[in-house]
Amino acid sequence: MSIVVPVELAERSYPVHVGAGVRELLPEVIPEGAKRVALITQAGIPWELDPGVDHEVIVVPDGEEAKSLTVVEQICRRMATAGLTRADAIVGVGGGVVTDLAGFAAAVYHRGIRFVSVSTTLLGQVDAAIGGKTGVNLPEGKNLVGAFWQPSAVLCDTDMLATLPPREFRSGMGEVAKYHFLGGGRLDALGLDERVAACVRIKAEVVAADEREGGRRAILNYGHTLAHAIETAGGYDLRHGEAVAVGIAYAGEVALRLGRIGEDRMAEHRRVLSAYDLPHSLPPGLDPEQLLDLFQRDKKAIDGITFVLDGDHGVETVVGVDRTVLADAMEAIR
Ligand code: GLY
Repeated sequence: MSIVVPVELAERSYPVHVGAGVRELLPEVIPEGAKRVALITQAGIPWELDPGVDHEVIVVPDGEEAKSLTVVEQICRRMATAGLTRADAIVGVGGGVVTDLAGFAAAVYHRGIRFVSVSTTLLGQVDAAIGGKTGVNLPEGKNLVGAFWQPSAVLCDTDMLATLPPREFRSGMGEVAKYHFLGGGRLDALGLDERVAACVRIKAEVVAADEREGGRRAILNYGHTLAHAIETAGGYDLRHGEAVAVGIAYAGEVALRLGRIGEDRMAEHRRVLSAYDLPHSLPPGLDPEQLLDLFQRDKKAIDGITFVLDGDHGVETVVGVDRTVLADAMEAIR
């Protein structure tokens, strides 16, 4: 059984197929008229998919380091050598690294060709593969070069999640936890396919309302301000979704101190994180002062320290949060 969630963006609209075995739909979602496909993947991805048309497999390196302009150049040169034209397409099969790279290569090759993402990780299925944010890192920072370039279709095959290492799967639940507070409600009561589809539906609705992050899309960064600071500070052992989980607990504590939420809602934050066996507190070795300084450098910090916080009107962006409140909330999660 598969669930189809549309991402409604006028002429750039596309379906996200969620469910066990939806990888079999790949030949059907190859863009019309594409005679050849560049299939981008990584050596560790245990899925060999057949797009049903002539294709060139391009294996990119593992890890975040693969998200570089050098690798984009290599991909584009391989496609040029293989004679892919602007009518052809890219398929990315992998996690966020692969789909971000494949999407960005698609955005720039021949000034933009069509692409399909087959997301193999939970983090990718509920977040990275949906919404058209593509890009690569620079030595100076993550995702500093990129483009909004929407896929033609996304396949979220939940069978693929069974092959993930348990910690990777649990990390993905950090992004799922976020959606509880973006109107998702009791997502933990749903089965996996329905839960993934519910997250995709929320993301699709937010992206449809604000494709290029002019405002509302920032709510998708719930829990991410602290997560990004933790990731920049380094010296810890947390995966992205785990850092987001700590960030969600922290965002709750900040909202509580600002009187935006009550103890019951704070308890709901803790309950959700526990339901997914996710951490609620800062790992040892991180300096709270350094984290507070890093908030000021966060890309959303246009006017004082900006946070995405829960409240009576749901999760929204709040500008000018006082540093003493942030420091106090930090103590609460130590
Ligand atoms: N991952 C946040 C966004 O897609 O906007």
